[in-house]
Amino acid sequence: MEGEGLLVRKIRSGVVIDHIPPGRAFTMLKALGLLPPRGYKWRIAVVINAESSKLGRKDILKIEGYKPRRRDLEVLGIIAPGATFNVIEDYRVVEKLRLKLPEVSQGVLRCPNPTCITRKEREKAVSKMVLVSHDPPAYRCVYCGTTVRGEEIHDLISP
Ligand code: CTP
Ligand code: ZN
Repeated sequence: MEGEGLLVRKIRSGVVIDHIPPGRAFTMLKALGLLPPRGYKWRIAVVINAESSKLGRKDILKIEGYKPRRRDLEVLGIIAPGATFNVIEDYRVVEKLRLKLPEVSQGVLRCPNPTCITRKEREKAVSKMVLVSHDPPAYRCVYCGTTVRGEEIHDLISP
């Protein structure tokens, strides 16, 4: 049994995100819009610093009853590439996939350049950021060329 079993039981249905680098579970909750007051709809378990043979330490997120939306995989892939996304039904893992950095992010990652066309109040273009480096991750805006990298990317995820 993994260490987290001592803290949190298995869930009946929903989503379990495992192998999250320590500290990123809260980043995920925020980016998914699951922190209070919105997040009070679901039963959520956050395990910080669980033991992991692969990572040493890891975070785990369990969201009971949650139906993932299409953009969630993109959001989570940006925050924790390599983490495992599990869909649970009737106590069983029915889908397991490894999160990865999206090659292109449209409408999810915002460009930080205040004069970029994607930041205009009117007639603004939908943001389009292209992956230009994996480690550390970096994205470049196709409109103005602004490049963002590392942890600053997390603050640019649209709510
Ligand atoms: N899990 C859960 N509730 C369930 C089934 C699984 O909370 N009803 C959790 C497990 O505790 C684990 C994750 O979902 O954190 C993935 O489950 P499983 O694939 O059974 O575990 P592992 O084989 O250890 O996964 P991996 O190979 O991805 O490490
Ligand atoms: Zn831009």
